[in-house]
This record gives sequence, structure tokens and C-alpha cells, in this order.
Amino acid sequence: MNTVAVILAAGKGARMGSDLPKALHKVAHATLLEHALRAVETLEPEKTVVVVGHEGEMVALEAQRINEEAIIAKQKKQLGTAHAVSMAKEALSGFKGDILVLYADTPFISGETMKAIRDARATSDLVVLGFEAKDPVRYGRLVTNGDRLERIVEFKDASEEERTITLCNSGVMAGPAPLLFSLIEEIDNQNASGEYYLTDCVAHAHARGKITCVVTCDEKETLGVNSRQDLAIAEIAFQERARLEHMENGVSLVAPETVYFAFDTVIGRDSVVEQYVVFGPGATIETAAHVKAFCHIEGAHVSEGAIIGPFARLRPGAELGEQVRVGNFVEIKNSMIGDGAKINHLSYVGDAEVGANANIGAGSVTCNYDGVMKHKTMIGEAAFVGSNTMMVAPVTIGKRAITASGSVVTKDVPEGALALARAPQENKLGMARKLMNILKKRKQKNI
Ligand code: UD1
Ligand code: MG
Repeated sequence: MNTVAVILAAGKGARMGSDLPKALHKVAHATLLEHALRAVETLEPEKTVVVVGHEGEMVALEAQRINEEAIIAKQKKQLGTAHAVSMAKEALSGFKGDILVLYADTPFISGETMKAIRDARATSDLVVLGFEAKDPVRYGRLVTNGDRLERIVEFKDASEEERTITLCNSGVMAGPAPLLFSLIEEIDNQNASGEYYLTDCVAHAHARGKITCVVTCDEKETLGVNSRQDLAIAEIAFQERARLEHMENGVSLVAPETVYFAFDTVIGRDSVVEQYVVFGPGATIETAAHVKAFCHIEGAHVSEGAIIGPFARLRPGAELGEQVRVGNFVEIKNSMIGDGAKINHLSYVGDAEVGANANIGAGSVTCNYDGVMKHKTMIGEAAFVGSNTMMVAPVTIGKRAITASGSVVTKDVPEGALALARAPQENKLGMARKLMNILKKRKQKNI
């Protein structure tokens, strides 16, 4: 059966207390809309329609950044979820397959659950995804009779008795497009919110003798984000799931509860991630790498067998070769670090190419920014950069060259050369004690 996904993202999300539309708030560095679009990808939908309204242009841009083929349907006034789905009708005219509706604020449905919904359509006309809620709060309640779902009652409209129901509506619904659109036409807004509720489709379908059923999943998948608290809860749930998934993929997490992943973090098997490591978006770590405690890694690639940290920061464009060592208080940005190179202590390497097996001494800095432009530093294979070398870019240090500690290198260093670029030392014999006495006298006078 051909499926089309319709993602509702027109709401303002008033309960977020934000100028940003709710769908653009982030969990694990990806917008709720991005999570939703990725969630429906498992069904390989023929088309994906995103219904936008509040700050619609921003939401549409984000949708098409993620899926350039996403179709945008506009809902000028947010009159309710049924009205929002009807906005997709024009884009889907003539489509006879299935529609799967997903709310952008409920975007953590797993691929398996998506498939279970599709499978359930083989024996039902309309499928709703429900969950057993520990604390059902304001979710819509599913009123069932045996296997049949009879209707969904919104919290605001529910009787005291109905509010005791713990089987809740996730917001995901699937059914054939012609049926869904004709049911929506029957829906009115005579309810506590004065909105056209998509959830009313169920009662109308039931009245027509259609088979309506519930597929259930774990509550963690159906977390709906309506407030900042919900967003924080969704982040916790995402992180718990990500930690388990990485461990299942063969990654050792020494203290899983202290490691934070982005939605797209990739880590190869037999890698170890120690305590308090934070991944920003775009981090890939190959197999058998070791990330020691307190690192921050974002937009960076770490190759097999590399050892990072403790306390290292890899920023976007950091490409580390195999067996590279990056130690404490080292920051690397937009740089290629060749296999086996070592940058072990207190260094900044930005806009650089570091050859294989080069050694960058403690406190060395690529001075890449002149206040207006960024410039490149090239460090050759097996070069030895002495501690506290300032490399004023653009500059090249040749293969196997050495820079003396404390050098300020402003000119290229030829291959194999020793660069000495520091003030010569003078030793004044016996001067240490004399200097101390002078200083002490000055201090006494001041008192
Ligand atoms: C909705 C469900 C409720 C369910 C809950 C799950 C309805 C009537 N209620 O309630 O049964 O338990 O989700 O999280 O569907 N939207 C539009 N246009 C509109 C209104 C909403 O696009 O006119 C979008 C919102 O941006 C949001 C989604 O639809 O992504 C759901 O709307 P929301 O107002 O959050 O509904 P809930 O009160 O959470
Ligand atoms: Mg909601």
C-alpha cells in the first residue's frame, strides 16, 4: 500500500512560551520537525506533506532543508488538527493510498511502531497509535470496547469517568486518504476548545461501521512536547534510548548517564567513551577509538584507534587520522590531523593541516585569525613543533622540521630545518638576589 505522511506543524505551541514555533525547538540538536521527518522515513512514504501555519516560512524552510521533496501545505488559521489535515487535501488530490498523520510535537515514534501501524491497516480501516500513560494529564483518552476503538475524547471534553482512562492518544492516525478526508468533512467544532479535532474521525468512522483499532507502543515513544518541561523530558528520553543503542552497537560507555549524544552521533564498535562526554551534531567516531572523560565533540571525525582527551574539544571540521593522540585542553577546528600525530597538551589548532606523525608541543597555537581573515597553517609529516610555538598563519612548517620552544614562527620553515624564533637569553650572574632586595625595599617604602 502506498503511503503518504502528513506532518502537522502549524501550531504556535503557546505553552512553550516562545517566539520560535514549537516544531523548531530542539531535542538532541535536531528540531522536533526533523525528528518527525526522520521518523516517517522508515515507511518510505511516496510523499511527505508538512502543514505549516504559525511562522510558516521558517517551518517550511526547515522541512525542505531536511527533505527537499517535502510538500508544504499552508494552514492560515489554526482551527484544529482535523482542519490542519484537510489542508493537505489539495496536494494529495487523486491519491487513493494511505495517509499517516503524525504531529510534529510527538516525533519520537520508532520505525518498528510505524511498521506495526501499517501492518494493522491490513485488518482495520482506521488505526490510531495509543499508549498506556503513567500520568495521562491532558492527553486525549481512547474509549474502547473490546478490540474496537469507539471514539477519542479530548481531556477538556472528558467526563470525570473518562478522565480515569489511562489508554491515551499519541496523535498518530492512519487510514485511506478518501476515507480520512470524507470523515474530516463531517467533523464540527462543537467542543470545549472550539476546534476541529482530528480525533473525532474515530467516532464518525465507528458510526459508519468502519473497523477502527488501536496499536500501542511504549510511552517513551509518544512523548508529546507542549511545554519546556516536556522538552526536557523528551531530551532525557532521547538520551536514554541513544545510550542503550550505542551500547547495543558495541560501544562501551563507562558511565552512560553522563554521556550526551546528538541525534546523528555515529560511533564504531569497540570504542570507549568515558564519563561526561558531550556530542554536538555531526560527530563520527570510528572503531576502537577512546574518548576520555570531559570531552566536547561536534562536527568532527575521529579515526580508528585515536585517543582523545581528557578535556579535549573537537570543533566542526576536525578530521583526526588513525592513532592520533589529542590530550587535555586541546582545541581543534577545521583541521586535518594525519595518522599518528600527537597534540597532547594545551594547544589550539585551527585551519591547519598536520602531517602524519607530527608532534605538536604543549601550549602551541596556530594563530589563524588576523581579525578579519582566517589563514592556513601547514605542518609537514613528522615535524616537531616545540612547546609554546606560535605559528602565525599563513605559514608552512616543512616535513621533519623542528621549531624551538617558544618560537614565534612568521616565515615558512623548510623541510628538515630547525627554526629558532625567540629572543636570545642573557644570564646576569648574582642578579637574582639583588633584584629581590630591590623589590622588597620598594614594597616597604609603599607601606
Ligand atoms: C493532541 C490530540 C490529543 C493527543 C495529543 C498527543 C487532538 C484534538 N488532540 O492534543 O488527543 O493526546 O495531541 O500529543 O488532535 N496543529 C496544527 N494545526 C492546528 C492545530 C494543531 O498544525 O490547527 C498541530 C500542532 O502544531 C501540533 C499538533 O498539531 O504539532 C498537535 O496539536 P496540539 O495543539 O499540540 O494538540 P494537543 O493538545 O497536544
Ligand atoms: Mg501537543
